[in-house]
Amino acid sequence: MSNKMWGGRFAEVPPKFVEEFGAVIKVETRLCPYDIQGSLAHVTMLGETGILKAEDVEKIKEGLKLVGKEIEEGKFTFNAEDEDIHMAIEKRLTELIGPAGGRLHTGRSRNDQCCVDSYLYFRDAAKECQRLIVEIQKSLYEQAEKNFGVIMPGFTHLQVAQPVLASHWLMAYFWMLKRDYARLQGFLDRLVECPLGAAALAGTDFPIDRWSTAKQLGFEKPTENSIDTVADRDYCMEFASIAAMSYMHLSRLCEEIIIFASQEYKFVELSDDFTTGSSIMPQKKNCDFAELIKGRTGRMYGYLQAMLTMMKGIPLAYDKDMQEDKFLSYETIDLWQSTMKVMAPMVRKMKINGKRTYQAASHGFSTATDMADYLVKKGMPFRDAHRVVGQTVRYCVENDKTFDDLTLDEFKAQSELFDKDIFEDISLEHSVGARKSYGGTAPEAVKVQMQHAEEFLDKA
Ligand code: ARG
Repeated sequence: MSNKMWGGRFAEVPPKFVEEFGAVIKVETRLCPYDIQGSLAHVTMLGETGILKAEDVEKIKEGLKLVGKEIEEGKFTFNAEDEDIHMAIEKRLTELIGPAGGRLHTGRSRNDQCCVDSYLYFRDAAKECQRLIVEIQKSLYEQAEKNFGVIMPGFTHLQVAQPVLASHWLMAYFWMLKRDYARLQGFLDRLVECPLGAAALAGTDFPIDRWSTAKQLGFEKPTENSIDTVADRDYCMEFASIAAMSYMHLSRLCEEIIIFASQEYKFVELSDDFTTGSSIMPQKKNCDFAELIKGRTGRMYGYLQAMLTMMKGIPLAYDKDMQEDKFLSYETIDLWQSTMKVMAPMVRKMKINGKRTYQAASHGFSTATDMADYLVKKGMPFRDAHRVVGQTVRYCVENDKTFDDLTLDEFKAQSELFDKDIFEDISLEHSVGARKSYGGTAPEAVKVQMQHAEEFLDKA
């Protein structure tokens, strides 16, 4: 007989290298405190219901706390032969307190146990992600405040479109991140049913009290169906999809920073401590970290893809395939969190070159729409105005001029409706200031969104 916890029916056990292949123990050490917490709640309930005698309950509780302390102090050894932390902790418990340790697993399976550990861990991890999202939002907000009034070109197709406030551009990311934050909140709001007590898949014949463990662990209630409880990992994939989406937002911001930091744009400059140099070209200042974030988006999407694929063909209830959720979820969480930790100060310390952005907005005919609107206000149908302004742009391109270079006569040659006041209407300040519609780029409209952003930050 093998000395494994499940060794009763085995004459032989897997050789070391096979054992290593299957072990998750070194990957999931972060679950230990949650495993102890879950076991404490479980054994308390076993005492309350009279399933275990009070003296065993006390011994087990003491023992669990000792194991917890050993783990915390780094004195615990994680061996592949124990497979996972659940078995390692139980084994150590029994070493410490004797046969009473063997009673802890009454009315429970590793299948519901690993779920409750994960739920508890995810609860903390998701809250930490929310906190880190808010840190980036604060950086964006601070930049928007500091650079209020700076005008830059807004783009579509990466072609100059219309002038906007730099604050408006920055705040666009603020609201994307706010939705990511809200998605995490939705995730947390769904993670309120306690899996403990589902046991292997069918429930248990012990008179357990699932409401007790649920309440002790801060859940609202037990889950409804024991098969569903141990058979799904939708929460891991939901989290990974939120992370993937938010990472996409961060990646786009990084891409814009990289483009805008190039010598051709010079709209922004990252601080020295968030850039790197070249080993051969002394002049270089590269946005390596922004590039890495953009590059790691591939991995991030990959984790979600891997989990969805891993789950798609598993017959109910638990199959070992599902243990892959650990590695994939932790990689997801670690990558997202470490990225956000880099992102917040990188954005906060970035410099925006308002002179350059203004210059760039003055080129590229960014106020062409304003010019067309001008003609419309003088009575011309919009389609005709669009054509007249298009012709004016062509005239400028052919004669190497910007709108600012045009004289009133040149304007009038395009349309008699043009008058002196056109110069005012096509100024960048006028263009930006005129877009007062709710959520628009006019300073007064941007102030409104920043006020709302501040209210969000106050509550977050
Ligand atoms: N380490 C396992 C996991 O993470 C725990 C569940 C094991 N259950 C089982 N029936 N082998 O998935």
